[in-house]
Amino acid sequence: MGKDTVTIIDNSTGKSIEVPIKRGTHGPPLMDIGKLYQELGMFTYDPGFVATGSCESKITFIDGEKGILLYRGYPIDQLAEHSSFLEVCYLLLYGELPLDNELTNFEDMITHHTMLHEGLKDFYSGFRRDAHPMAVMVGVVGALSAFYHDSLDIRNPTHREISAHRLIAKLPTIAAWAYRFSRGEPFAYPKNSLSYSENFLHMMYSFPSEDYEINPSAAKALDLIFLLHADHEQNASTSTVRLAGSSQANPFAGISAGVGALWGPAHGGANEAVINMLSTIGDVSHIDKYVKKAKDSNDPFRLMGFGHRVYKNYDPRAAIIRKACYDVLEDMKVDDPLFDIALKLEEIALKDDYFISKKLYPNVDFYSGIIQRAIGIPTNMFTVVFTIGRCVGWISQWNEMTADPAMKIGRPRQLYVGHAKRDYVPIHHR
Ligand code: CMC
Repeated sequence: MGKDTVTIIDNSTGKSIEVPIKRGTHGPPLMDIGKLYQELGMFTYDPGFVATGSCESKITFIDGEKGILLYRGYPIDQLAEHSSFLEVCYLLLYGELPLDNELTNFEDMITHHTMLHEGLKDFYSGFRRDAHPMAVMVGVVGALSAFYHDSLDIRNPTHREISAHRLIAKLPTIAAWAYRFSRGEPFAYPKNSLSYSENFLHMMYSFPSEDYEINPSAAKALDLIFLLHADHEQNASTSTVRLAGSSQANPFAGISAGVGALWGPAHGGANEAVINMLSTIGDVSHIDKYVKKAKDSNDPFRLMGFGHRVYKNYDPRAAIIRKACYDVLEDMKVDDPLFDIALKLEEIALKDDYFISKKLYPNVDFYSGIIQRAIGIPTNMFTVVFTIGRCVGWISQWNEMTADPAMKIGRPRQLYVGHAKRDYVPIHHR
């Protein structure tokens, strides 16, 4: 067996260096190129980070070729079947599944952090009522740092833990209030007798003037959606949170940066885009036309909810959500024609050479909107629901990075292709 290194040779100078190989528990090894610049005077070039590892992490593992997703080593399908969102939050944050009393204490802690500072309520009235709820999320999550400055010392593990609890607990309240504000309806305060998902439904839909009965199927489905979105290793929004946090910015500022990154249609915004796309398709008889458009390299149209940078196989979360769609629609007695279009679209795409050769499969966003529609979540709130679920992943990854004494500010380099150095020309000589 040879040395655990790779030799990089600069053929233009003949200089070479031995680069150590780092091996993790699972997944391809990485070349540690930290000394490349020092020794060869070169940077690496990888736009979109297609082949670049940015950190070591013990939290989540994805095998994109096999369609495997593990949270702290546990397969996503086992967690989806046996666990709950808050248990998964504990697992992601602390590294192990909780014991009975640990889970009870954690649930109690989160439940007792769901209220928002009353001053934050006034903050909402500064927004336009027709604002996208993700715009409100970016603003209000960032504003948490203006209300909870007693937990902002990032070097203090207790502060980090309190901020993590606050974020997980308060996101559903912030989200539900964004929805209520858009409708000119009264804000509903959280109720400590309710579970995490029940509370979200209560704050979304209850009125002070009448009793609101929570549908257990809706609460169960929502819990599953949160759980499936809880973490996904170094995706765009998580990397944004890590990069923002690497400057030692406070966690609320870092997470609001993550909310902004998640919003885009290539990332968390895809769930909203999928439903808009299915509505535009309108009928199974029009699917062929849209598949053709998606395959046309001169047409910017893509099948939303299809394809993934890492999964070159069926996204395991999509498989779970697809199955759950049948149960939820039946339980909620909903007959959604968009589900029929989605199923037929998937069937056609998965038999098509274009999608087969490019390994494009449905991702988590393809079916999640169908479930959210069935439980009455409006389309523009879908990415907000994703945000609530993903918050624990962001804060766990941020905590892992910040707890490491070797944390460094993130600072990528570039290939400068602009003008060579030139002298300033006074305005009348230009
Ligand atoms: N429909 C049609 N063609 C596609 C699609 C699609 N949905 N996705 C990728 N392709 C094609 C693309 O045109 C390219 O073809 P070519 O090699 O001929 O230029 C090839 O497949 C590779 O695509 P890419 O854009 O280079 O791949 P990427 O890894 O940079 O992008 C992606 C991944 C998720 C942004 C992309 O697949 C996409 O835009 N999908 C639709 C949006 C979506 O569903 N996003 C949610 C992602 S999962 C949840 C999350 O991350 O939040």
